[in-house]
Amino acid sequence: MSQKIIIDTDPGQDDAVAILLALASPAELDVLGVVAVAGNVGLSQNAKNALKVVELSGRTEVGVYAGCAGPMRRKLVTAEHVHGKTGLDGPDLPEPKITLQPEHGVDFIVSTLRAEPAGTVTLCALGPLTNLAMAFIKAPDIVTRVEKIVLMGGAYFEVGNITPAAEFNIYVDPEAAHVVFTSGVPIVQIPLDASHGVLTTRERLAGFRTPGNRTGQAVAEMLSFSERFDLEKYGSIGAPLHDPCVIAYLLEPDLFKGRKINVSIEMASELTRGMTVADYWGITDRPKNVLFVRSANAEGFYELLTERLARLP
Ligand code: BDR
Ligand code: CA
Repeated sequence: MSQKIIIDTDPGQDDAVAILLALASPAELDVLGVVAVAGNVGLSQNAKNALKVVELSGRTEVGVYAGCAGPMRRKLVTAEHVHGKTGLDGPDLPEPKITLQPEHGVDFIVSTLRAEPAGTVTLCALGPLTNLAMAFIKAPDIVTRVEKIVLMGGAYFEVGNITPAAEFNIYVDPEAAHVVFTSGVPIVQIPLDASHGVLTTRERLAGFRTPGNRTGQAVAEMLSFSERFDLEKYGSIGAPLHDPCVIAYLLEPDLFKGRKINVSIEMASELTRGMTVADYWGITDRPKNVLFVRSANAEGFYELLTERLARLP
């Protein structure tokens, strides 16, 4: 039986690849909806990008919703310096023909969790955690109905990418992250420590192009654009492919290794705002609230991704 998921996202080239990976895997994943949140760029552009990506996949029966336009308590910080002006620079994707669903993204999360049997829906978070936190605050009854949350965010050994201490998704809305990390819902956290191990090398980008499908071509174009920033910053052979790790984890959890620990979110300090303070060595008796994924099998990850993307138009 396929696993029901909601994808919460701020696409974002790596978000786009994650969405495509999920939509290419209908036997395993039943995507109930895609919800946009403000993050890499503003909400309306992220929502438009989500529509474009769903349309690219050919899975236009999957609804796209717009959620929150900004963090719970902070001014929105965006990342055009990485993702380009549109958030999805690279390929020339057509204006979407499909349109947004009328329901607010947070209400969609709430109504879906109430409608589906308890413990059967997984939330996949690829951006700031604003929508998830707002849904939990608005409708506390849904919290215990969530099967689990698999999220890309935070870092510990690799520290930060938007500041020396913090990863972008958690930095943008630390209060939302705190709500989610203290919710009691089982959480799988995929931090930079794991995503920095899956690099877009030349060969891997060429592998996406090889089948000759439109999606593979578009993915190679997206990632060739977004990697330029990381190549310069890290001086590595390729850029980390963060968000698709979330979907790959659902498809093949054995590609990833982690341990259950406590992770707490820094909210008070400006210097370390949004840091995910990970008790990796069990120094405190704080409750173990996340499975902290520390590493990924890059070969297996790209094999899976390349094979799945080749199934799309
Ligand atoms: C995360 O930040 C965003 O820019 C990416 O899409 C990813 O979700 C990586 O820090
Ligand atoms: Ca993202």
